[in-house]
Amino acid sequence: MKKILHIISSPKGEASRSIKLAGILIDKLLATYPGSTVKTIDLVKKEPEHLKMEQIAAFFTPAAQHSEQQKEALLFSDESIREVLDADIIVIGAPTYNFSIHSSLKAWIDHIVRAGLTFSYSEKGVAGLVQGKKVYLVLSSGLMVTEGPAKAPDFVEPYLRHMLAFLGMTDVSVVRLEGADVPGVKEQAWDKAVSSIGF
Ligand SMILES: Cc1cc2nc3c(=O)[nH]c(=O)nc-3n(C[C@H](O)[C@H](O)[C@H](O)COP(=O)(O)O)c2cc1C
Repeated sequence: MKKILHIISSPKGEASRSIKLAGILIDKLLATYPGSTVKTIDLVKKEPEHLKMEQIAAFFTPAAQHSEQQKEALLFSDESIREVLDADIIVIGAPTYNFSIHSSLKAWIDHIVRAGLTFSYSEKGVAGLVQGKKVYLVLSSGLMVTEGPAKAPDFVEPYLRHMLAFLGMTDVSVVRLEGADVPGVKEQAWDKAVSSIGF
């Protein structure tokens, strides 16, 4: 029995390929771990604020000294971190937008990266504090990104892997739909994506 956190960052709702693919993955997870629960966070419907000075100042103020205004500024960040820490499995849906992630997902990441809560500094350097999670990245792109000219400028998987590892999450698997808009490739793209769910 697992607690699954599903992060959505596609604005396309029912037409979204990453949401549909993540749904198939989650159904498989539920079949594998009966009794599991799924909490879905739609970052487009409930958009995280871009970080403002209020949040940044609060991040660097000890919790005991937070003003009421700072507590309020931290509500989304605190809740998002609780959701991440509480989950056993995190499924992150990430469509490619202009060679990177959708800005709602970037904003969410900015809220969950917090010194003392999700990572720490020590003499040995930075240590991730989010341990023991299994993460699935459900990636969706119009172009082929694992080969060809769009491979080098694909910042989605490298960025997400880096940020997850920074926070301590290194058990990461990728489920990928690619070439969904490329004639001659798109016809097989969906079946290939579903078969990349490797368990
Ligand atoms: C504004 C915009 C920018 C896009 N940029 C890229 C891109 O840089 N590379 C790419 O391969 N696909 C790009 N696409 C195509 C999407 O990644 C593709 O349609 C994907 O399936 C979207 O996932 P979703 O259906 O879950 O929203 C872009 C689509 C939109 C709407």
